[in-house]
Amino acid sequence: MSFKICHIGCGAMSMRGHGPAMRKYAAENPGVILAGCCDLDLEKAREFGDLFGFYHHYTDWIDMLLKEKPDAVSIAVPVGSTAGISIRVAGMGFNLLTEKPPGMTGDECRGIIEAVKKAGVTAAAAFNRRHMPLVRRFSDILDIEGKETITCIRCEFHRVGRKDPDFSTTAIHAIDMAIMIAGCGYREWSFEFQPLVRTPVGNIYLNGVMESGAKVSLAFMPDSGLDAERFSVVAAGSSFFLNMPIWDCPDYPGGIIHFKEGRRMAKITGTEDEMFITSGFYGEHCDFYNSIRSGKPAGYDMASSLQPVEIMESLRTEKNNQTRR
Ligand SMILES: NC(=O)c1ccc[n+]([C@@H]2O[C@H](COP(=O)([O-])OP(=O)(O)OC[C@H]3O[C@@H](n4cnc5c(N)ncnc54)[C@H](O)[C@@H]3O)[C@@H](O)[C@H]2O)c1
Repeated sequence: MSFKICHIGCGAMSMRGHGPAMRKYAAENPGVILAGCCDLDLEKAREFGDLFGFYHHYTDWIDMLLKEKPDAVSIAVPVGSTAGISIRVAGMGFNLLTEKPPGMTGDECRGIIEAVKKAGVTAAAAFNRRHMPLVRRFSDILDIEGKETITCIRCEFHRVGRKDPDFSTTAIHAIDMAIMIAGCGYREWSFEFQPLVRTPVGNIYLNGVMESGAKVSLAFMPDSGLDAERFSVVAAGSSFFLNMPIWDCPDYPGGIIHFKEGRRMAKITGTEDEMFITSGFYGEHCDFYNSIRSGKPAGYDMASSLQPVEIMESLRTEKNNQTRR
């Protein structure tokens, strides 16, 4: 049986992550058709379509969906447009996978959740880190130990010379990862902001408590000399360390170390593979399309994005309020 996929937005992330992931999925699954891709910029749509094997390219996504009638729509447009397009795609009755964040605010995210429920379609947000093979392995190891025994989750999130005043749409990755690690949402959270001379972003510190009672502490350092995302997790008698396999970063291909009662239990080095696989883009596309084709629920639904988006929004609001003072 055929399964048609359309893609909206053929920019940087699509060229590096989504296009290669969809091409591999189509190559490995007979009947999967990359029916159409769309960008406001005709040249981008044409280049993306030619490179990754889409049958048709468009500059108007509504025209594309009406003509192609796909089984799933993948969306990777600028963050300010994601919620509006997602709500309309759901309203037209199509299943959709959006880039993160699905909305800039909790209200936008709730708007998508309502539209999806009303239309009875399947939807998820593509938080690629949830689908990194190394992160899945880390989560599985924590599951074996028992996530309910976790007492402390910390993350150091480094970037090189970031100057974009709103860091919240990047910070949401670690905010979301803490939920995956803890196996539950946040009960409470607060922020501290540390101004820096060289960048308007400044260091951002999130301190919180998860529903399980685990303490969470995330430090975002946008001008700290390297790109890296390093987690440490403490549970009863154990410590776990995860260096994420972020592309082009010194920690690549990443690794996991587990100590228990004074002994090293595991040392796992990430697998060197193509960026779109190690970074989770392939996994997120597989998970979503396989769930629709099999009728089984996806690993994540749109509702699981709501709290990360709400915390991202409160980070942005508090930062803006502080800047005005
Ligand atoms: N997962 C990650 O680590 C990660 C990293 C960077 C960006 N992102 C996300 O990816 C998304 C896209 O980011 P990007 O860096 O590729 O941006 P980009 O600006 O390079 O690409 C966006 C593309 O969407 C097109 N577009 C805009 N409105 C459109 C419309 N109405 N119809 C069709 N095409 C339209 C633009 O012409 C552009 O080519 C954002 O949501 C961003 O948050 C995720």
